[in-house]
Amino acid sequence: MYKVACLPGDGIGPEIISAGRKVLDAAGERFGFDIEWDEYDVGAERYISTGQLISEDELKELSNYRAIYFGAIGDDRVTPGVLEKGILLAVRFYFDQYINLRPVKLLKGVETPLANKKPEDIDFVVVRENTEDFYVGIGSRVKSGVTKNELKVVRDLYSVKFGLDVETDADELAYQIGVLSKKGSERVIRYAFDLAEKRSKKLASVDKANVLTDVYGLWREVFNDVSKNYPDVSTEFNFVDAVTMWFVKNPEWYDVLVTPNMFGDIITDLGAMIQGGLGLAPGGNINPDGTSMFEPIHGSAPKYKGKNIANPLATIWAGSMLLDHLGENEAAAAVLSSIEHSIEERAVTRDMKGNLKTSDVGEWIAEDLLKG
Ligand code: IPM
Ligand code: MN
Repeated sequence: MYKVACLPGDGIGPEIISAGRKVLDAAGERFGFDIEWDEYDVGAERYISTGQLISEDELKELSNYRAIYFGAIGDDRVTPGVLEKGILLAVRFYFDQYINLRPVKLLKGVETPLANKKPEDIDFVVVRENTEDFYVGIGSRVKSGVTKNELKVVRDLYSVKFGLDVETDADELAYQIGVLSKKGSERVIRYAFDLAEKRSKKLASVDKANVLTDVYGLWREVFNDVSKNYPDVSTEFNFVDAVTMWFVKNPEWYDVLVTPNMFGDIITDLGAMIQGGLGLAPGGNINPDGTSMFEPIHGSAPKYKGKNIANPLATIWAGSMLLDHLGENEAAAAVLSSIEHSIEERAVTRDMKGNLKTSDVGEWIAEDLLKG
C-alpha cells in the first residue's frame, strides 16, 4: 500500500486531479497495489478566507509521504506570486526537490505546430534545476531615500559601474540575485548524466555563460568536472537563446538537457508547445531521498473551473511519473500507453478535437487500463 498526499489546489486543479486519481487507482487494481490518498486543502480559497498558504505543520506532515500529487494553483483575486511562492515553491524548496524532470515527447496522434516533425523527432527530457538560480528569492526594490546597507551596496556598485549619480539617476532600481552553488549544480548535473547513460548517451547543458559569466561559469565548470565520470556520454554546451531556436527547427537533436532553474522554466513551456500544448506536459519535482511532487506544468486556468472540460492528460501523465518514482514501473508504462490509446481513439477533450469531458477521459483511461 502506498500513501500519497494529494493537493488539488485551485481552478481546474480538483477536476484534473480527480481524473488522475481514478487512473492511478485503476493501475493499482491491475498491477496489485493500493493507494491511500490523503487530501490537503491548500490554495486560493483557503488563503482568501484565512490568510493561510501552507503551514509548517502541513509541510512536516507531508514529509511522511514519498509522493505528492499536485493539481494547480493560481487565482485572479490574489496578487501574482503569493500563491506560487507561498505554496508551490514552498513545497519544492522545503523538500529540496532539486530535480524538475520534464519530458518533452510527442505522443502518437498528437498534433504538433512543427511542420514535418513526427513522434520520433520530438522525444527528449529536460532536467531543470529546481532550487537555485533566480528562484532563491533574494532581491529588492530600491526606492529613493532607502538607506539599508544591502541596498546601498547595489546602488554603489551600479553607480560606480555606470558613472551615475546614485541620488538622482539610479534613485529607484530593483535587483534580484541568481545564486548557484557547486553542490546544487553538481547534484542535478549528475542526475542528468545518469539519465543520459540510460537513454541515448547524449547530454546538452543549457545556459547563458557568454553573458552571465559568474553563475553560469560555475555551472560549466561543474558540468565539465562531472562529465569526467561519464566518458561514454557525449556532451555539448548550448546557449539558451539558441536552444529556443533549435527546439523549433531541430528538436530531434536533443535527448537529455540539463539547465538552471529559470531557463528550464522557459524552455519547458516551449517544449510543452511542441509536444502538443500545455495540456500534455507533465513534470516531476524530485528529491531522490525525500518527498517528491508530481504535477502538470500548466496552471489553474480559472476560467475553465468547474466546467469539466480541461484536458487531464498532463496530470494523468504526471501520475504515471509518480508511479515510476514509487517503483511501479510496469504500471507507469501501462498508464502512458493507455494515454496514447485514448489519443488514438480520440477519447480526449475538445482542445484535442475530441468530445469527452475531463472526467470521461479519466474514466476511459481507467477502463482501458483494466482491460489490460
Ligand atoms: C512552473 C511554473 C512555476 C515556475 C511558477 C508557477 C512558480 O511556471 O512550474 O513551470 O516558475 O516554476
Ligand atoms: Mn513554468
